[in-house]
Amino acid sequence: MPIPAGIVIDGATGALSSSTGHYVKSLSALRDCYEAPALVDAYIAAHGDVAAYEVREYCPVGNDLRVGTTSMAPGRIGREYFLTRGHFHARPDRGEVYWTQSGEGLLLLHSREGECRNLELRAGVCALIPPGWAHRSVNTGAAPLVFVWTCASDAGQDYGRIAARGMRQLVIEQDGRPTVVPNPNYRDDDWLD
Ligand SMILES: [Fe+2]
Repeated sequence: MPIPAGIVIDGATGALSSSTGHYVKSLSALRDCYEAPALVDAYIAAHGDVAAYEVREYCPVGNDLRVGTTSMAPGRIGREYFLTRGHFHARPDRGEVYWTQSGEGLLLLHSREGECRNLELRAGVCALIPPGWAHRSVNTGAAPLVFVWTCASDAGQDYGRIAARGMRQLVIEQDGRPTVVPNPNYRDDDWLD
């Protein structure tokens, strides 16, 4: 049986005082998430294969909830901002909460039925992601974007559907501002299911 625990979260960096898991996604691992993968290659050639984002989590064995942080570096690939892979939860009846600690960004969401929404991510905003919505975070600011997330420990992550189809929307810089536009490369093909 898990025992009660309190952990300290550094909202500026996403560091946890105690963690049970941790990974870093380098830009090269996200190459195909961008509308122009060749620009990722060019970025890496110029700046190196930087850590685009880092995920830390705390989930003791047997606990029904996971909590953790995601820390996203600022940057842009062409007109697109640095982003996370994006996923549906493997269990369609499991949602999630994102509580932004620092930085600024946008949370792109779409339902399986095709409805699109986006939510602002900035310090203090607590975003509720209902079950059944794909979600991707985008750092639109000049500083790291750090948010705390929590979801059911059995929610699971289905990255394949977004990897195959893309997200329905992109966040691009347009006239100096982050702008949400339809993804021209979104693949709405039944055979992908
Ligand atoms: Fe999630």
